[in-house]
Amino acid sequence: MPRKLAAGNWKMNGLRANLAEIETLAARHADAQIDILICPPATLIAACQDSLLDIGGQDCHAATSGAHTGDISAQMLADVGATYVIIGHSERRADHGESNDVVAAKSQAAYAAGITAIICLGETLAERENGTTLAVIDAQLAGSVPATATAQNTVIAYEPVWAIGTGKVPTRDQIAQVHAHIRARLNARFDDGAEMRILYGGSVKGSNAAEIFGVPHVDGALVGGASLKADDFSAIIAAL
Ligand code: G3P
Repeated sequence: MPRKLAAGNWKMNGLRANLAEIETLAARHADAQIDILICPPATLIAACQDSLLDIGGQDCHAATSGAHTGDISAQMLADVGATYVIIGHSERRADHGESNDVVAAKSQAAYAAGITAIICLGETLAERENGTTLAVIDAQLAGSVPATATAQNTVIAYEPVWAIGTGKVPTRDQIAQVHAHIRARLNARFDDGAEMRILYGGSVKGSNAAEIFGVPHVDGALVGGASLKADDFSAIIAAL
């Protein structure tokens, strides 16, 4: 069984005053038998360098350096202590037009910097309703996950777009179907596909975490809103 991972994606939230939430979490879960990761905004990563939790970025550029105003490279993230980076989140795919090719290139940049890529996949509501969910997942897996992915350098996050920040959560059966499908595809493509972690993301809360974590092939969660407060995230961590 892959080691469980509770990952918090703070998105564009968090000032220095909020770093206390990370310290509280770290103190509370010092003996955790799972991996706990916080991906704060880039401005706070360096301030977390001494944290006992894992710290990650929310995006990186595909290049190592150069004329890319406003962007951050995977090497820069590693330089300030990040060990993970979220890549291809649906908000970046939508807001910044990131294609599967771009996501794959960024993932390779993360590997080159020695950082684990959390590669995000997920269908929109329209795709769910027109029955193309698994085809969308297949295309995203094939196009976004590099051939050099391993269980060490890659985590897959299944985040149905319609479940993000909406309070709507897929049924147990819907999550089970997609996670089993992703696992089968990873097994077919990678020698260590059985060990590659598959996270569920989308409106995970303390109240629904235990049910979601009981679904086969759910190896943890990528949590947005409920990762901002130590108390809320702790309730999710406790369910893993
Ligand atoms: O990356 C995590 C995210 O998209 C889920 O957000 O707020 O629904 O937990 P949220």
